[in-house]
Amino acid sequence: MKLYGNIIGWGKYIPSRVITNADLEKTIDTSDEWIVTRTGIRERHVVGDDENTSQMSIAAAREALERAGVRPKDLDLIIVATSSPDYLTPPISSQVQHGLGAKTIGAFTLVTGCTGFVYALSTAQQFIASGACKTVLVVGAELLSRFVDWNDRETCVLFGDGAGAVVIQATDVPSGVLSFVLGSDGAGGEHLILPGGGAANPPSHKNLDDGLHSLKMNGREVFKFATRVLGKALRQAIQQAGLQTEDIDLFIPHQANIRIIESAAQFANLPPEKVFVNIQKYGNTSAASIPIALCEAFEEGRAKIGDTLAFVAFGAGLTWAAAIVKVAENVKPAPKPRWQNFFTEWLARDHNLSRFGNYATPNAPSSEPKEEKTRQSG
Ligand code: UT7
Repeated sequence: MKLYGNIIGWGKYIPSRVITNADLEKTIDTSDEWIVTRTGIRERHVVGDDENTSQMSIAAAREALERAGVRPKDLDLIIVATSSPDYLTPPISSQVQHGLGAKTIGAFTLVTGCTGFVYALSTAQQFIASGACKTVLVVGAELLSRFVDWNDRETCVLFGDGAGAVVIQATDVPSGVLSFVLGSDGAGGEHLILPGGGAANPPSHKNLDDGLHSLKMNGREVFKFATRVLGKALRQAIQQAGLQTEDIDLFIPHQANIRIIESAAQFANLPPEKVFVNIQKYGNTSAASIPIALCEAFEEGRAKIGDTLAFVAFGAGLTWAAAIVKVAENVKPAPKPRWQNFFTEWLARDHNLSRFGNYATPNAPSSEPKEEKTRQSG
């Protein structure tokens, strides 16, 4: 039986503090007019002192789990996409696993800049398609307000904080990631870089004084790169899914610049009414931008169960990623007849069949088979 990873829950967390373009006009040499016409951004949300990336991730994940009707302890895997974790180590994915009260399942962090969510979603789908996992949490979270130089008008006006999450679950109904295109061109890495804090330029007074701990961007080069790769990746993904542009119900792009979004949509012949844009409210929330936009698209009725969605992103690396995703109804798998569970348990108890593997739940992680068995039978 072919397995698909259907998106059955989505959630987001947006910090409440808002910085408008008018606020920025007071601190740097910029104007609302410049920011709106060049980027489409009107305001962005940033964290307060007591918020951080793991908290935002956990809040978004809780909402997604609730909507999916899935308990944290039913998760089989957690993937968190972010370039702005709380710490270099421990990984934020383990913080999220613990914070949610999930079992001691696998959890890892994926770092590919703004494309992180699409990379993570495509990865999660492989775990489901292989039968290794049944229910996976994918989070995209970013807190770039602590990594931008608020005196650098070329970067600080662009970014915002937030988190988005989805729960994907195995089903035999064709759904989830129907196709994906992932790309990377490290030759352009210098165009979007946070030079300090890693092994190359470890924390030091000098590196701090030299401003290496804030994001540096050659906006013009990243812009050119984005317009070159996005439309192409989108068209490739549609083609790989065996679909036509008309089959896409909603295009949910990475929200980095309205002009880049329009150029990608135009390249793929997608009309404006099929393009979701919320950049005006949040700015560029990097790996969180697509899952946040997905949530809002559902909230506003722009995305519906049964729709075929197109995600496309670009970012640091330089990287790009596109995925065509079908959202099917969340049909809970029919519970096994009681006698089947009873029979399996009786066999395992009397004949020590554990050497043949976990009979009751072939796809369950091997660490806690007992609890998993109970859940399946309930
Ligand atoms: O997720 C990936 C993250 N990165 C991106 O998405 C960035 C992609 N790039 C962009 O979105 C655009 O390149 C920007 C919005 C960053 C810049 O827009 P642009 O149309 O490419 O402007 P530009 O870099 O060509 O700069 C035009 C002018 C420059 O002045 P001069 O040299 O012509 O006198 C800049 O100094 O605009 C100036 N400028 C600003 N002026 C007012 C740059 N930033 C600002 C600003 N306010 N905030």
